[in-house]
Amino acid sequence: MVSQDFNELQKRILELKHEKKVLILAHNYQTIDIQEIADFVGDSLQLARKSAESNGYNSILFAGVRFMAEMAAVLSPKLPVYIPDPRALCPLAACLDAERIREKKKEYPGVPVVVYVNTTAEAKSEADMICTSGSAVEVVESLGVDTVLFGPDANLADYVRKHTSVKVIDLNEEGHCYVHNKFDREMFLDMKAKYPDSVAIAHPECPIEVQDVADMVGSTGMMAKTVAESDAKVFLIATEMGMVQQLQKQNPDKTIIPIYDAAVCRQMKKHTLEKILNVLENFPEENRVTVPDIYIPHIREILEKMNKVRGQGPPVPVEAHS
Ligand code: 13P
Ligand code: SF4
Repeated sequence: MVSQDFNELQKRILELKHEKKVLILAHNYQTIDIQEIADFVGDSLQLARKSAESNGYNSILFAGVRFMAEMAAVLSPKLPVYIPDPRALCPLAACLDAERIREKKKEYPGVPVVVYVNTTAEAKSEADMICTSGSAVEVVESLGVDTVLFGPDANLADYVRKHTSVKVIDLNEEGHCYVHNKFDREMFLDMKAKYPDSVAIAHPECPIEVQDVADMVGSTGMMAKTVAESDAKVFLIATEMGMVQQLQKQNPDKTIIPIYDAAVCRQMKKHTLEKILNVLENFPEENRVTVPDIYIPHIREILEKMNKVRGQGPPVPVEAHS
């Protein structure tokens, strides 16, 4: 961990979180100032696992999009969960409703449904299994079937197709993350030509043409591990800018270059230190994240099943170019 001088706002937040025993979890796409005051920063799978380990805390403050905070509410049902800005919603999650899943189930009777964690609680309640980008391949394989219904991210579905022999049927062929779907192959190849000694890493929410030319494809947690452990010195990154900034901060001796520096998730960036302080001072009811009781037992069961899957993605060798 890199040593840190905190500003006044951060110091106040740190005091309050200790005093009030609040566990602060932050996704890798949060700004660095938020990552610095968090107890844990990680990808969706790592955060789901941490959410289930909240003993000794009075509440959880989740700096991520709403579905992530909902996972914490399901996995730590005894603790209230708060989000700094309640409007932080993932648009990808909004593009798969429960009705569409029910229709697909009728069309493909008996075929299990795997939903990406970026979904609403109602959609999850129709699923047989949940996955994150870091666990998608292993979750699909863990079912031991030859066909699955999968969604809503069609690019992640392509990634699963590429790494398993399981037939993957899209729940929504148009389902994409607007941030990752902006990356294209030409952009990627131009940057590779400019930095020939680099290792290029893409998130599996990027289009398959981008995944195909990357040296490695993985979740944001996988990116952090790869950059830290690789002997290479220059990395090209195709994901949201918060991750790029974190990688540079954690690896000051390496050069981290975004493939596209306008890749910013506006929803993740709704959170600020001021909004975090507001929660720690007032615990406003409108910032509380809950999941309707009827969905909780089933979502909890499938989230716990997902958390047991190893979830590091398929082994992809990374060459040290320099
Ligand atoms: P990770 O699980 O890789 O952190 O991804 C979450 C996400 O929302 C990507 O856009
Ligand atoms: Fe949703 Fe994309 Fe933002 Fe991730 S980056 S939270 S998938 S909109």
